Amino acid sequence: MTIMKSRYLGLDLATPLVASPSPLTGKLDVLLELEDAGVGAVVLPSLFEEEVESEALVLNERLETGAGAFSEATDFFPDVELDHLGLERHILLVEEACTRLTIPVIASVNGRSAGGWVRYAQDLVSAGAQAIELNMYDVAADPMSTGAAVERAYLELVAHVRASVDVPVSVKLSPFFSSMANFAGQVVDSGADGLVLFNRFYQPDLDLETLDVTPRLELSRPGEIRLPLRWIAILRPLLPHTSLALTSGVASGADIAKGLLAGADVVMSTSELLRHGPRRAEELLDELETWMAANDYESVGQLRGSVAQHTSPDPGAFERAQYQKVLSSWRG
Ligand SMILES: Cc1cc2nc3c(=O)[nH]c(=O)nc-3n(C[C@H](O)[C@H](O)[C@H](O)COP(=O)(O)O)c2cc1C
Repeated sequence: MTIMKSRYLGLDLATPLVASPSPLTGKLDVLLELEDAGVGAVVLPSLFEEEVESEALVLNERLETGAGAFSEATDFFPDVELDHLGLERHILLVEEACTRLTIPVIASVNGRSAGGWVRYAQDLVSAGAQAIELNMYDVAADPMSTGAAVERAYLELVAHVRASVDVPVSVKLSPFFSSMANFAGQVVDSGADGLVLFNRFYQPDLDLETLDVTPRLELSRPGEIRLPLRWIAILRPLLPHTSLALTSGVASGADIAKGLLAGADVVMSTSELLRHGPRRAEELLDELETWMAANDYESVGQLRGSVAQHTSPDPGAFERAQYQKVLSSWRG
């Protein structure tokens, strides 16, 4: 009997597969199905500060228009807290998910102001979230902003949120930092209990008919796992006490095995579940179990980190050698 238990952010999980944020994890019935299919935890869709602000703005405009048209209109909405609408929806989802699910529920925040990050993280924790994931999605396009300043802002934010909530905090990072190993360590030193590697960046496209910029969301492809896989393998020995989650390109049980072997505590999936539905989680876990049994692994714990870069005293030189090997492996 294979032991599938894992531990992530101090939480006990029945399996190492986590459903990462997407529209799927925003629906209670799907969350229940994901739990039934065996995922160890769920991360709810991010609460965006802009979402809360824009809903408040719309309501505000409606109230003002209504109030101008009918003098008694404000009586219909006597005490509405204008900035709480988008938030209410997320809070309700957290409350319902925490009541109905037995697996850990992690809430995700994407703020804009320092106050917004802290306040929404606190609200989601009060609603019952067992951990907070900070979705650090930021395109640093300001030419006046140095890399050091961008990193400092991230670190201050992590420290701020860490000091404001009493549940574990993970940070979902982009891969675009010039010295990832150093920066990851600083994020942990600032208080992060876990790192989620990596956020996927979505590049808009140009419509040649209208010359409009068009949003283009493409689901990930299996090969995309290699970027987070490499960094999990590098960071595992450097951050032995930090929870590591792999996200991007997980499309099979074999991919979950790779993530664990590299040193991830959990492996997350979105695209594969969006493509095939929440029951795909069950198949992914079956595939993992079959692979483990065939390769004489008795537990996820035994698997974890067994091919991280412990063996390489100089990860930089190891990576350079790999690069040379890859280039010379091409056979036309
Ligand atoms: C439609 C969609 C919505 C997403 N929404 C969020 C979100 O709200 N917060 C977040 O941190 N990531 C979000 N993601 C990113 C996923 O959680 C995941 O990190 C990414 O898709 C890479 O994993 P995958 O290769 O398994 O899809 C979203 C992805 C998709 C496709």
